[in-house]
Amino acid sequence: MRKKVIAGNWKMNKLPNETIDFIDRLIPKIKDTENEVVLCVPYTDLFYAILTAQNTNIKIGAQNMHFEEKGAYTGEVSGQMLKAINVDYVIIGHSERRQYFGETDETVNKKVKSAFANGLKPIVCVGESLEQRENGEEKEIVTSQTRLALNGLNNEQVQNVIIAYEPIWAIGTGKTATSEDANNMCKIIRAEIEKIYGQNIAQRVIIQYGGSVKPQNAKELFETSDIDGALIGGASLKVEDFEQIVNYNK
Ligand code: PGA
Repeated sequence: MRKKVIAGNWKMNKLPNETIDFIDRLIPKIKDTENEVVLCVPYTDLFYAILTAQNTNIKIGAQNMHFEEKGAYTGEVSGQMLKAINVDYVIIGHSERRQYFGETDETVNKKVKSAFANGLKPIVCVGESLEQRENGEEKEIVTSQTRLALNGLNNEQVQNVIIAYEPIWAIGTGKTATSEDANNMCKIIRAEIEKIYGQNIAQRVIIQYGGSVKPQNAKELFETSDIDGALIGGASLKVEDFEQIVNYNK
């Protein structure tokens, strides 16, 4: 049985004092969950988040990293730096980074490798745009993004990757993919991993859905066969909403 991984993606939101307050309020509400709880916060909140979540079941993640360890890359933060302050997870290749910051399948792959080299767990985002969906290209897009992101990883690494299937047309729009559609896409991603790495490994990979997940639709999505949790933007900014999603099975 795969564990559910429920990860918040705060994007460019919340100051340190809001971070501390959020986590302090979340801790008692989710302390008994069997689900893995992750908060991916802005760089400037990471240290506060880690201190506040210390000795709890909340794991902290970053939203991006550079693939080099150090050097002349003004404004960048490396995997080594994240690990040094006890960050556990890192989102890689979010569609907003692919769209606005020139992230490519090649840089995603380099970042995934660097994340593993530094002991971080990558949450790799894949997903098609509205246009690609309308052209019927969604399967081709997500399988190719998945294949290229995992290129050159060993079996141990592949089974520890988290893939977040996030159709771009569902992000921040209030439009969720139906649970059947989202589950089918997650199945297609798993089948692609199986084709290359075999069934044993493919069955272990956590595949999340992301795109307007909220308390009202979380349970239905999570009760499907191949959706192993979610990457949550908007609804992860409110303790009450995020807590309800984490506790969907309570
Ligand atoms: P959303 O964002 O939940 O606000 O749609 C999801 C994401 O971008 O990871």
